[in-house]
Amino acid sequence: MAKSSERRETFYVSTPIYYVNDIPHIGHAYTTIIADALARFQKLAGREVFFLTGTDEHGQKIEKAAAEKGLTPIGLADKVVGRILDLWKALDIEYDFFIRTTMDFHEAGVQKLFQQLLDKGDIYKGTYKGWYCVGEENFLADDVPLDPDGTKICPDCGRKAGVVSEESYFFKLSAYQQPLLDYYAANPSFVRPASRMNEVASFVRQGLKDLSITRTTVKWGIPVLGDPKHTIYVWFDALNNYLTAIGYDWKPDLFRKFWPADLHLIGKDILRFHAVYWPAFLMAGGFPLPGCVFGHGWWLKDEAKMSKSKGNVLDPYQILNAFGPDALRYFLLREVPIGLDGNFSHEGFVNRVNSDLANDFGNLVQRTLTMVRSYFGGIVGEPGPEASDDAALRSEFDALKARVFALMNEYAINKALEEVWVYLNQVNKYLADHEPWKLAKDPARKPRLARILGQATAAVRGISYLVYPVMPRTADKVWNYLGETGRLRDVRWADLAFEGWDPKREVREPQPLFPRVALKDFLGEEPPKKETTMEQIGFEEFQRMDLKVAKIVQAERVAGTTKLLKLEIDLGTEKRQMVAGVAETYPPEDLVGKSLVVIANLKPAVIRGIESQAMLLAAVSPDGKAIIPFFDREVAPGTKVK
Ligand code: MSP
Repeated sequence: MAKSSERRETFYVSTPIYYVNDIPHIGHAYTTIIADALARFQKLAGREVFFLTGTDEHGQKIEKAAAEKGLTPIGLADKVVGRILDLWKALDIEYDFFIRTTMDFHEAGVQKLFQQLLDKGDIYKGTYKGWYCVGEENFLADDVPLDPDGTKICPDCGRKAGVVSEESYFFKLSAYQQPLLDYYAANPSFVRPASRMNEVASFVRQGLKDLSITRTTVKWGIPVLGDPKHTIYVWFDALNNYLTAIGYDWKPDLFRKFWPADLHLIGKDILRFHAVYWPAFLMAGGFPLPGCVFGHGWWLKDEAKMSKSKGNVLDPYQILNAFGPDALRYFLLREVPIGLDGNFSHEGFVNRVNSDLANDFGNLVQRTLTMVRSYFGGIVGEPGPEASDDAALRSEFDALKARVFALMNEYAINKALEEVWVYLNQVNKYLADHEPWKLAKDPARKPRLARILGQATAAVRGISYLVYPVMPRTADKVWNYLGETGRLRDVRWADLAFEGWDPKREVREPQPLFPRVALKDFLGEEPPKKETTMEQIGFEEFQRMDLKVAKIVQAERVAGTTKLLKLEIDLGTEKRQMVAGVAETYPPEDLVGKSLVVIANLKPAVIRGIESQAMLLAAVSPDGKAIIPFFDREVAPGTKVK
């Protein structure tokens, strides 16, 4: 039923439509940024893209929030929509359509879809009695236990649920249990990541009950045609936005072109609605099913899901004002694979941005283009012959381009970025190895210098193209510094070549792409002052630290980083792995066989995806380099240090 991948030249991607009870935070921005990056990538790949986002404006939750603020529901919705649109603009989100569920065509479309299922017998009238959570707009499952006071607590949000008993229309969800299971079995990548497919299938296997899909007590909703005391359940209303927004029943050509959707991006919190109810509604209506429902992880703050009710949301503007949109887009997409949760810390953010963007990427562009300007007046001109490592830079770019393409098609954005950074650091190394600043002193070596800077500039051009989906503003800037006359977005993926860089073109003066921002400037306050004399501790406190001699057995660089090494250490009775920020002082091969002191009972921490099971002791010099105190004679691994 899904569009076949060979014939597919369109790409339809959606975000959830966001509730308008409150202003958006970084969690909402996350889904929208993923969708934007994928949409931009697919456009480069030459596909015709429809990127949909919007707002979910009906239901009890909005009714209640508006009443609390002394507003009408539509008054509240208008206000919040304004804030959402401002945020999408600030983040350079280029959606194709922004749907509001209060739009006329949507309301009419939902009524029609409802009527069709009623006529077909998939919707019928009955009485509903059960527990309902207004916060989540959801019925509680039967197995949620009663509290001692006779009430039930919503397992998703922890708030009290209420009992509703009313005449209601039901959707025959139970009839779709087997068709859904069959569909999952035949289309295992319908739900991604794979772990979530298992979760969904086992939920459906436990049995599906019919679903109440109208309310008589909620006024703020779409009325059922011919029975207007009923309003349509907000999830039936909301999910159908994916059909109405692309023209169901009002723009048939558009609808035909883009349905079924290729990708519904959602947070894992609303997986059941998208992977169970939604395909069942579509099957009932006789529509082909979407290609994939991708449930991404949550952004946590202080180990809890960022949400308004927990009071731990981060204001996106705090970051946007200090760093601009690309740093935030990069961080959110690079830090964790889409399926996993990420914990947001300001330190983590500042470190990643300063290291990957200001140091690695920003410096490469700045250095390369500045040299082209100072040694060649901006035009590199005819280069000398290509040597083997010049050719390697070129051929590795072609291989990188192919890998990034495959990864982006698979929605593995963080892996694609990782790959780009490995290459980017190769280019940095290429420059460091060839020392163009030395060649520049010898006029006879000008053709060689032109070759080296030409290769580096071509690599910069290629890298800027590859990062465009994630950092469009930065990529456009680099494109402009390179003297390109056309727009980056108009270059098709297939046409991008390393050789596309024209050495006769004049390079413009670059401006720093990513200014380094200190943590204290970002937070707008001084970090707590370090005491010059530390507080005294008792001997027992010192004794709680398990300090031991460790011998380094193996050492290697952590891919994509300049500071980190992964070490395997011998503690006498066991071997462990650890990550240490000493790569700027010690090449890995110098460390093997050395003995040093580690804290063996520090809680393990995951650094760049590697579990670090100990911490070494080192002095940190004023320029930030770590210097390790090694033992000056043989000591057995595992010996206690006291
Ligand atoms: N209105 C429904 C969706 C209807 S779709 C037919 C809804 N809206 S919501 O405003 O609560 O937004 C939910 C979505 O926002 C989540 O599914 C997720 O995509 C995103 N996020 C909200 N908080 C988040 C985090 N803390 N982390 C990551 N994404 C989260 O549910």
